[in-house]
Amino acid sequence: MSLSHVPVLLNEVLAALRIRRDGVYVDGTFGRGGHSRAILAQLGEKGRVIALDRDPDAESAASALMQKDARFLFQRAWFSEMPDVLAAHAIHEVDGVLLDLGVSSPQIDDAERGFSFRHDGPLDMRMDPTRGESAAAFLMRAGQQQITEVLKHYGEERFAASIARAIVEARQERPIERTAQLAALVAQSLGARVHGDWHQDPATRTFQALRIQVNEELKEIMRVLPRLIAHLKTGARLAVISFHSLEDRLVKRFMRCAAQPFGGDETLLRLPLAQAVLPEPPLRLIGRAIRAREDEVNANPRARSAVLRVAERTASSWDRSSVANDVARLHAAAFGNAEVA
Ligand SMILES: C[S@@+](CC[C@H](N)C(=O)[O-])C[C@H]1O[C@@H](n2cnc3c(N)ncnc32)[C@H](O)[C@@H]1O
Repeated sequence: MSLSHVPVLLNEVLAALRIRRDGVYVDGTFGRGGHSRAILAQLGEKGRVIALDRDPDAESAASALMQKDARFLFQRAWFSEMPDVLAAHAIHEVDGVLLDLGVSSPQIDDAERGFSFRHDGPLDMRMDPTRGESAAAFLMRAGQQQITEVLKHYGEERFAASIARAIVEARQERPIERTAQLAALVAQSLGARVHGDWHQDPATRTFQALRIQVNEELKEIMRVLPRLIAHLKTGARLAVISFHSLEDRLVKRFMRCAAQPFGGDETLLRLPLAQAVLPEPPLRLIGRAIRAREDEVNANPRARSAVLRVAERTASSWDRSSVANDVARLHAAAFGNAEVA
């Protein structure tokens, strides 16, 4: 079992962030610090990296780095709390932010964390085991309809209804508390029905869906992105790596909206305003989506699904007094009425 993590798209991230030697950079997803260390290596004495991660094991790895390098600071927190973390350290604006979404290899590989259908362990799946409910608790509490919806929306699982029915029937006999128990239950409920991708374990989509649910993964993306803008200096870069289409869709929509006047608000965009009076949008898109090259995918199969999107903060003012309105408008334009709280 390997408990290390190979950072994906490393050179592409460094190029995207255009590291300045004395800049301040935020790594919102420290993991095992592959990206943080590479950023530090390009910084001079005055540069800084502020890293966050909600996982206690990431915190242990970061503590060692903090002791060695005074330019590095780690705070265990959810990345939507980034504005508070920056405020606590009296940092107002930064030169770049990286989010490398999803789970780290050590989280998957450590059976005790309950992320894997390959290794039996307690059915937990929380990146932050100190908050929220485990996957086992969710499956015990939720109604059949809610389980169906989670599997359908977060796992894009065609057989969501059959799997949810099997879960609800099984939990009447005994709680579903182990990853192997859930994987066997899913396989059994699907019976002879073959998934589109026959290379994929039948439990893959169910596990993905539960992981997204218990970690509020999509909500966290929707919470953090609009709030980040106020903390980016003019010219600062925002780089986000996603690993599946549900995440990438949110990042793409957000960046597109933030790169249009009025945050892409359709009603305001329809107003008959002259080009000259349109407000400058807060972000500018940088290039197209970037994917890993073949040699990286061959060396690190996790890189196969990685998509990096980059945007740059413009000089447009996000008036402090109206930031809450701007954030709300951008949120509504990018994500509609999706619940975030
Ligand atoms: C793909 S890994 C990052 C790997 C890292 N770039 C490296 O090179 O080692 C994602 C990390 O982000 C953390 N994470 C995911 N969502 C988070 C959130 N909303 N808040 C804080 N940390 C989060 C996970 O705990 C995990 O350690």
